[in-house]
Order: sequence, then C-alpha cells, then structure tokens
Amino acid sequence: MTTTDHNTRTTTTPAPHTRFPESFLWGSATAAYQIEGAVREDGRTPSIWDTFSHTPGKVLGGDTGDVAVDHYHRWRDDVRLMADLGLTAYRFSVAWPRVQPTGRGPAVQRGLDFYRALVDELLAHGITPMATLYHWDLPQELENAGGWPERDTAYRFAEYAGLVGEALGDRVERWVTLNEPWCSAFLGYGSGVHAPGRTDPAAALRAAHHLNLGHGLATSALRSVLPARAGIGISLNPSVVRSLTDSPADLDARRRIDALANRVFTGPLLEGAYPQDLITDTARVTDWSFVQDADLASIHHPLDFIGINYYTPAVVSGPRGDQDGDNARLDGHGASDHSPWPGSDDVVFHRAPGELTAMNWSVDPTGLTDLLLEYTAQAPGVPLYVTENGAAYEDTVDADGHVHDPDRIRYLHAHLSAVHEAVRRGADVRGYFLWSLLDNFEWAYGYSKRFGAVYVDYATQDRIPKSSAGWYSRVARAGVLPA
Ligand code: NOJ
Repeated sequence: MTTTDHNTRTTTTPAPHTRFPESFLWGSATAAYQIEGAVREDGRTPSIWDTFSHTPGKVLGGDTGDVAVDHYHRWRDDVRLMADLGLTAYRFSVAWPRVQPTGRGPAVQRGLDFYRALVDELLAHGITPMATLYHWDLPQELENAGGWPERDTAYRFAEYAGLVGEALGDRVERWVTLNEPWCSAFLGYGSGVHAPGRTDPAAALRAAHHLNLGHGLATSALRSVLPARAGIGISLNPSVVRSLTDSPADLDARRRIDALANRVFTGPLLEGAYPQDLITDTARVTDWSFVQDADLASIHHPLDFIGINYYTPAVVSGPRGDQDGDNARLDGHGASDHSPWPGSDDVVFHRAPGELTAMNWSVDPTGLTDLLLEYTAQAPGVPLYVTENGAAYEDTVDADGHVHDPDRIRYLHAHLSAVHEAVRRGADVRGYFLWSLLDNFEWAYGYSKRFGAVYVDYATQDRIPKSSAGWYSRVARAGVLPA
C-alpha cells in the first residue's frame, strides 16, 4: 500500500458550475449518546460514556448525556425539523445499551421499537435513514469484561449487529458498522480523553484490531440477515497528515502518524494486512500476537461504501529542540499527559494554517478534496459518503431571537465546494451529512461546543434553526451551491 501523500495539496480552481448529482443525499448526522438523553428509560443500562461522564474531571463542566437534547422524547419534532429543512437523509446511531443492555443475549424489544418508529417517521417524510451501529456507547458490562482490547467484544458486537439488522433490515438500506474506530481505540484506551479513559498504548492497539475484527464479523452477521440491496460500510476519520517540512525526520513523522491514524484501518479493510511499517514502529509496545490467523480474512470484506468524516488536517514534524508544537492542543483531540500515538509519542503536532473554529481546529477544505480523491484511488469502485463534516462556533441567540452563524456558512460552503471538486475529478461521492443536525453533547467538551445547524437552548430544549440551517436547506433543495 502506498503511503498517502497529503503534502500534495489540492489547488482550488473555481468550478465552472457547482451542481451536484441528482441522486446526491443531503443529510445531517447525530449520535445516540450525544442527543438522546433518557439514559435510564426502557431498559437502557449504562454505557462507558455514562460512567466516564459521571467521573469527576473527565468532561468539561461535569456535563453528562443524561438529558442531552432530549431527542428520545422529541424525535418526532426533530424529524419534522429535518423535513422542513428539505433534507433527504439522516445518519443516526443505535445505542447498544438500549438494544442489548448487558452486551449479550436477546434484544430488548422497547429499545428496537424506538429506532423502528424513528425510521418509519423518517421514511414517511421522504428522508433516507443511515444507521450507525456503534458510535462509542459500549455497554459498561462489556468494558467490565475487558472492553475492546478483549477479543470477545468483537464477537459481542457482531451478535448485536445481527439483532439490529434483523429488526430494521426491511427499512434501513445503509448501514455503518463503526464510527471513527480510531477515536474508540486511541482516545478511549491510549490518551484516555474519551471513555473508558484508559491510558495503555498496548491496549489501544489491541482495541484497534478488535474493532477491525468487530467490523468484519458484524459485516458477515449483517449480510446474513439483510436483504441483498442493503449496503454496509464503515465511517473512518482519516487524518490528512502533512509534514512541516520535507526533511527526512518530518517525512518519517508523517509516515508514522499516517500508519497509526489511517493505515491501521485501511490496511486490513482494503488490503487484508496490517502495514509492515506499523508493526515495526510499534514493536516496543506490542508484538501483535493478538492477531489470529483467520482474522484478516474476516476483516477484508468488500465494502459497499466508505464513510469519510473530515474536519481539519494535521501538521507533524519529527522531534524538535524548540518544541514549537503543543501536542495536547494541536493534535486536536484534547489534553492528556498520555499520547494517543503508541510508539510515536515523539512526533510533534503543529498548528495548521487557516482560520480556527471554536475547537481550535484549522479550516482547510482542500484536505477533504484530497481525502476523497485518495480513497477513490485506494478503493476503486467503492462509493463514498461524507458521513460527517461541520464546525463548532461560539453561537449566541440575538435579541431578535435569531442565531446568525456566518462562519459556519462559510465553512460549509468551502467544504461542499471541496466535495464538488472531488466529484468533478472523478470521486463517486453519493452524499454529505452535516455534523450536526442539533447542538449536542460534544464528548469531553460537554455542551460547551456547538456543532449544530440548529441551536438548542439547553434550559428549555427549544430548537432554533441557525442561519446556516436556512443556507444548507436552500443548497439541499436546489442541489447547487451558490456562487
Ligand atoms: C466526530 C464524531 O463522530 C462526533 O461524534 C463528534 O461530535 C464530531 N466528530 C465533532 O467532534
């Protein structure tokens, strides 16, 4: 597999016209723990995020997903919001602890009923559902048994996937097994800024492998219960890694981060093997003996689509005397004394050029074009979706009751232009899902970061579409980007 060369930047030439294909899906995305609330209702049990968010010091402001944006009770209104905006697709996630509270055994009917009703409501409004099976809410009982570093979790995930597939397969045609397995493995078990908050580099690599295996086994389980027309994919958060300079040390830093951020997943998924350089780079951390003979064949299924989540690029260099990097802040994933990069914690992250969003992430839409073209080359013939893209800004409600968010409109415009540019250059991109429909629980940042196209007043749960929602709605309805 070729090392991805993110240093070859896309130059943005004005597109002659910015019409998207007729069948392009215009969506928004959310995740269960970030929006649902109702954490103790209808048989749901704690997930690792319930435990983590209730542990003092883990989430800013002590915020939890206990209530979130109360979507579990307001889902009909939220679907109506999407319909009013003219959106044609919605990516949501199924909460594993609602469906299979202990992570084992038969499904809880009330859990499945919630998602069935949600999907029916979407379909009734002409909105195509895309279901994500795992958006980080592992049942706590499975973490107690060892979590993703344990092999059994992959089997448990496949069983759960089969249960949901059986229940919703007649009405959901697009399935995402895992959302951003990099975050689950390396933030959850490496730097510890995400649940379950462990800081063990070897466990992070074991988790990455068992997430890959879980994807593979879940794909087989889904294939055996879903109709042939169903599509199964995965949502990755590929890092667009650029090197600070072309020095050998900086290029090597880029290669190492590319291996740990990207090829640790695309190697097994697309080529049926872990990259040799990854195994060598991490030799001090693990011998990879947890990879069993048949695993790679189980993981290496044809994918019906690949979901790309993109927000910002990374700029890296080799170790530097002047230390003008600040890894805790600049790798974009939250402060920790522990690195999320096993065996490569000497790599320095630098501030990427461009304006910053409220996450301190630099705005660089060329990274999205690059990624879409790169995946087109790496996985020829596999359709792509942008399953997440968006930005947090300091949104406030004006005296007139409106939320004006011109920065987000500019961000979306630039990134949709970048998607269009990739399509023009041959990428088969079938849809775009704005992160997020609603302001919501932004993991370790709690409710302090607002990503929604729709503002949520957390005291009243009122929803106020921001000006970006109106803008996105017009784009979605026309299928054309304004000049
Ligand atoms: C990726 C995650 O999938 C989503 O849950 C998160 O809120 C956004 N990025 C923004 O950080």
